[in-house]
Amino acid sequence: MYYSEEVVEEVRSRANIVDVIGKYVNLKKKGTNYFGLCPFHGEKTASFSVNPRMQIFHCFGCGKGGDVLKFIMEYENLTFPEALEKLAAEEGYKLPEEPTNPEQKKNNDLRLKLLDINRDAALYFYNCLKGPKGQLGMNYLAKRALSSRTITGWGLGYADQSRDNLYQYLKSKGYNDSILKESGLITFSERGANDKFFNRVMFPIMDANNRVIGFGGRVMGDGEPKYLNSPETRLFDKSRNLFGLNFARRSQKKFMILCEGYMDVISMHQAGFTNAVASLGTALTDQQCALLKRYVNDVYLTYDSDNAGIKAAKRAMPMLQKVGIRTKVINMKPYKDPDEFIKAMGTNEFEKRIENAKNSFLWLIDIMRLDFDLQDPAGMTSYAHAVAEKLAEIQEPIERNNYIKAVAHEQMLDEEALRKLVNTIGNAAMQKNSPLQEVYTHTDFISNADRKKAMAKENAIQKSEKQLVTWLNEKPELIPMVRSLIGPEDLRDPVVKEVLELVYQEKAVNTILDHFRDNDETYEKVASMFNGNLLSDDTDEFAFKRGLEDVIRNIRMSVLNEKIEQETDPAKLTDLFQQQSKLAELKL
Ligand code: UTP
Ligand code: MN
Repeated sequence: MYYSEEVVEEVRSRANIVDVIGKYVNLKKKGTNYFGLCPFHGEKTASFSVNPRMQIFHCFGCGKGGDVLKFIMEYENLTFPEALEKLAAEEGYKLPEEPTNPEQKKNNDLRLKLLDINRDAALYFYNCLKGPKGQLGMNYLAKRALSSRTITGWGLGYADQSRDNLYQYLKSKGYNDSILKESGLITFSERGANDKFFNRVMFPIMDANNRVIGFGGRVMGDGEPKYLNSPETRLFDKSRNLFGLNFARRSQKKFMILCEGYMDVISMHQAGFTNAVASLGTALTDQQCALLKRYVNDVYLTYDSDNAGIKAAKRAMPMLQKVGIRTKVINMKPYKDPDEFIKAMGTNEFEKRIENAKNSFLWLIDIMRLDFDLQDPAGMTSYAHAVAEKLAEIQEPIERNNYIKAVAHEQMLDEEALRKLVNTIGNAAMQKNSPLQEVYTHTDFISNADRKKAMAKENAIQKSEKQLVTWLNEKPELIPMVRSLIGPEDLRDPVVKEVLELVYQEKAVNTILDHFRDNDETYEKVASMFNGNLLSDDTDEFAFKRGLEDVIRNIRMSVLNEKIEQETDPAKLTDLFQQQSKLAELKL
């Protein structure tokens, strides 16, 4: 459901963020803000703050932040419209009804009918399994060590050998051929209507709200295909769903376990690992990554331990990392998948494997070994080079150093030799690729010290940009003057640039945040920008103005410098220099 900006604003303005969050977190007033223990990460000292003036929250510990709707989304694991609906209900506000565009209404009705069919089919399969004809299915599931509690909980079922029993059943419930065809459960040919699934145990696939949207059916024995799945329908989009998510989202664990198969998920849940999901027999998609990110920041991969599984894990890692999820890999050797592992080794051993899950960087280094002949000294050298190249990609020096240590230890490489190699590769790459290289030098070799200075200057400007927008938001009376000196196009950071445009339109913080709602990472960046740069209540006017002058000067000066470097017309150059000296005298 889509709600307009006005509706969002209306609902939000009825709620007071302090009261709403106060229901979940014990808040104490300190100055103008409220503080409490952050509900999003374990902590003993209160670093979670709520700002009643701006109606936003921010945790100085874990960095989460945003408006009241963001809080509800995070805390209750809801989507944006769901959070809005919840808040509206609590504030006694009636949201506008579903738009009655006839096209949309027809589509909606069809979807509802398909949901009914899937639910009826799931019940049919379930009753079949439990009935006299279900013995084969029951035997199979027992052989796979599923308890009757698990079978019921997951609503497993059985499609018997007849070719049209389900069709007859659904007809008797009043569904017509055309909608049955759309459901994907019945196939039609010149010889008539046939059930798609027969002689299989059935796994209902549910969406995050426990509604059956499709099925996977497994042959009992060695037939082909091993698993038959519902086709994509108006209801069932494989790329947007994860098997088991309806249960896993309620597990309250800090991470999710991502695996390949139906049976893996069910076995893990049965063993108590209720945070397991599977990507439904397709390669992981971007939408599934985004879906996971709604619930967790960490995902442990337990793909099969064969080559295909390794390949799938290598592919999944950067996709998950792109949406801001950290990844680890659970080693299941010598078994093929979690289901087989748990059956053979038991719950405790699996728990240990989770605890020892390997950081994905170290896992990748491990996997790289397979590509080299380590018996051969030349092969060993190439391997060390490849490892060093990966390590040199880590930007943060402390992190890089920790990894050098860990890798040297694990791979039995000499730590100092490896560190030297990493530094050599790192320096060479820096000279080649650094964007600052282009900005700050034209011809000459640039020394390390100069490069550090240039970086520091760049960082200072980026910090100034953020301060400018957040401070201006608090002092809108200064906007006309500042706008005459700095336009959004003068800022380097594209996100801050967008924020400045909104600040110039004098939008409230909440409205500004709304613009970034579709990207969690950017949203948090903007939220923390506003929180981090807050003026405290006792910042005196004088100090504030001097600070803002510095910030403006910093940004404007770098803009002028850039222009000067490119300008060849002497008259224009003179003007730019004059502007620079005027800037030095800037007074607010
Ligand atoms: P696997 O072949 O690894 O099977 O497929 P599995 O999960 O170990 O199955 P069991 O333990 O033998 O019952 C992994 C997943 O890939 C999808 C299914 O989702 C399966 O769970 N798959 C596999 C299909 O969709 N169709 C197939 O024919 C095979
Ligand atoms: Mn298996």
